[in-house]
Amino acid sequence: MHEGYSRPRREPEAGQRPAPSSASLLPAPTQGAFRTEPETGDPPLMSSHQPYPHAGVQLNHTAVYASDRHLSAEFLAAILGLRVGAPFGPFLPVDLGNGVTLDYCEKRDEPIQPQHYAFLVADGQFDAVIARLEAVGVTYYADPGHTDPGRVNDLFGGRGAYFADPDGHNMEVMTRPYARP
Ligand SMILES: [Fe+2]
Repeated sequence: MHEGYSRPRREPEAGQRPAPSSASLLPAPTQGAFRTEPETGDPPLMSSHQPYPHAGVQLNHTAVYASDRHLSAEFLAAILGLRVGAPFGPFLPVDLGNGVTLDYCEKRDEPIQPQHYAFLVADGQFDAVIARLEAVGVTYYADPGHTDPGRVNDLFGGRGAYFADPDGHNMEVMTRPYARP
């Protein structure tokens, strides 16, 4: 039985610059309209102990770059049991069950930077996804680094697997969402 894996936390190594904080990514207070320091009368800053007001914000769509939008959209739709929608300008949409649309669009003039997309599916759908991958000869892996082929993981009491799309995007299918702290 695969033991699953744990994501190592990245700590800056000696001599390595630490990742910039969000505050350091903002313009300096004197350089623009943004202020990084609170002023008298500002509402209190959010703390980690307060609920973040995220309920009204939902991901609606994102662009997925592809060297051939039809090939990539049809590939994902076929593997996940979805449908490719009608072209919308440069985009070829694949609608997901939670209202998010993946808008496939082509980028031919420069290399495509592989991204990671994870899809939560029911147990029965997971079996179907694995069967489709095997049927078309696409290797799936238990780990995101693609070192454990032909196996699935058991993260968070569920099952999961990774596979590459035609442009190398690292696709993940999982039956349990990550249990985040
Ligand atoms: Fe993931």
